[in-house]
Amino acid sequence: MQKKWWHDKVAYQIYPKSFKDGNGDGIGDLRGIIEKLDYLKELGIGIVWISPFYQSPLVDQGYDISDYYAIDPVFGTMDDMDKLLAEAKKRDIAIVMDLVVNHCSDQHEWFQKALKEPFGPYGEYFYIREGKNGKPPCNWRSYFGGSVWEKLPGQDNLFYLHMFAKEQPDLNWENPKLRREIYKMIRWWLEKGVAGFRLDAIINIKKDLRFQDFPADREDGMCPGSVMLSYAEGVHEFLQEMKREAFAPYQAFTIGELFDFRQEELERYIGKEGCFESIFDFAPHMLGGSEKGWYDRKEVTPDEYRDAIYHSKHISQDIGMMANIIENHDEPRGVSRYLPEGDRNEISKKMIAGISLMTFGLPFLYQGQEIGMTNKRFKSVEEIDDISTLDEYRLALEHGLSEKEALEAVAGMSRDNARTPMQWSREAHAGFSEARPWLAENENYLEINVEDQENREDSVYSFYKKLIALRTEPEYTEAIVYGKQYPLPEEPVNFMGFFRKGSQKTLLVLANYQNEKRTISIQQKIKKIVLNNYNTELEIKGAAIQMESYQFLILEVE
Ligand code: GLC
Ligand code: CA
Repeated sequence: MQKKWWHDKVAYQIYPKSFKDGNGDGIGDLRGIIEKLDYLKELGIGIVWISPFYQSPLVDQGYDISDYYAIDPVFGTMDDMDKLLAEAKKRDIAIVMDLVVNHCSDQHEWFQKALKEPFGPYGEYFYIREGKNGKPPCNWRSYFGGSVWEKLPGQDNLFYLHMFAKEQPDLNWENPKLRREIYKMIRWWLEKGVAGFRLDAIINIKKDLRFQDFPADREDGMCPGSVMLSYAEGVHEFLQEMKREAFAPYQAFTIGELFDFRQEELERYIGKEGCFESIFDFAPHMLGGSEKGWYDRKEVTPDEYRDAIYHSKHISQDIGMMANIIENHDEPRGVSRYLPEGDRNEISKKMIAGISLMTFGLPFLYQGQEIGMTNKRFKSVEEIDDISTLDEYRLALEHGLSEKEALEAVAGMSRDNARTPMQWSREAHAGFSEARPWLAENENYLEINVEDQENREDSVYSFYKKLIALRTEPEYTEAIVYGKQYPLPEEPVNFMGFFRKGSQKTLLVLANYQNEKRTISIQQKIKKIVLNNYNTELEIKGAAIQMESYQFLILEVE
């Protein structure tokens, strides 16, 4: 594999609305991020991706952009951005922005012009199509519920396409003029000094232009809009063009958010000539899903979790580096999802951290993960702000669940679990803001917060710090970053054991993923215990290691 500057880094995602409020209005902002750069540096972070802070009506929290060249006043000013870039540079932290170009906001000037003149030049920036006698052109369902087609105001039979909310009209990538506008905008930001982009929902930019019906999967007569992705050909041409025109001249770091990609095309995404540097590994996050909706989800077992991670490594190892996450702003908190209730404690949270950071790939933390933040207990649907959770709630009610059951069903998956304010301290509002935050904080901030954990050697935070430091530790960096990953010959249930074999050193990673002790036998001679989430002495008798519940070990072996 060709070596890249970002391979030995650890990245961190900031959701700006909820990270740190710098001006006391209850909403996180760029000044808040600047305040916390030293915190990130101390943790060992080398790349920071910030979710969108462009000008936006915030219908989907900034993923609906009304001006790509402006910063929303809620988040600050362009001066703040310049200062952020300069301060990050001083600390050797690369700033990665979110690139949301599958769609824009319905408030964007382009769309406003298209509305006035659907057959004019700006109409061509979107997908505007005739309906079937006042009904949508086809039966695709949007990711946030309802048809992907919305009637153009004042028109009887003209519709525009939106894969997400109706306030997020899809941009027509078939139009070379639109593509040029996008590339120009990307270069403008790179020129400013951002290191690269995370590419939002990027696989959707190529449509199946036949806009035909597919078999319905629910009573609403619709099919998931994503079905069209398996018929849409040619996304790579767009992506390669974007790379050539916008990213390559700046050697930008790019990381794609793609679900539903074709596995056999992985090489074309992150291989040597691939259109991105990396993509997120969402395999564990797809587990337990149901076509019916969130209300029908299943719990994820440790073995499923392990197999999903192994599968991704298996397909990517010889091609390129995917990014490992345990959560992000669209997912519930990983420790709440992948650890059974009752077993969530600092020991088990450290085990989850260890698995994520020792697996081949670029580790990507999401704010609050480093202190083991958990899901929130939503007491009523009024406490939920997220557009997609509200849609799933409606769906659950429609399927006969009571209000209480529906709330319970969606609470576990709600995107707002990850969007509650970052828990900095025991002060009011978790030290996030002096004012009441836009989304209420998780009550557990008195027990889980940065201030407490920074000062505690045995905290989740301190464990993350050690794991992160290990990645650049001269002795182990090569094995951790590039070492081949392969499992122990036999893994019992609720257990993960894998090697990271570098050219000099071999590490063995063991995770006892259950609330029970067990003995594990290994053939290799142990040279050193590199990391242990228990501070008790390890019991080794011959080839047998006695492991405590949720124990996590990194061993250097022969
Ligand atoms: C991505 C984002 C998500 C957003 C959607 C539409 O999946 O991560 O937050 O709602 O795209 O832009
Ligand atoms: Ca603010």
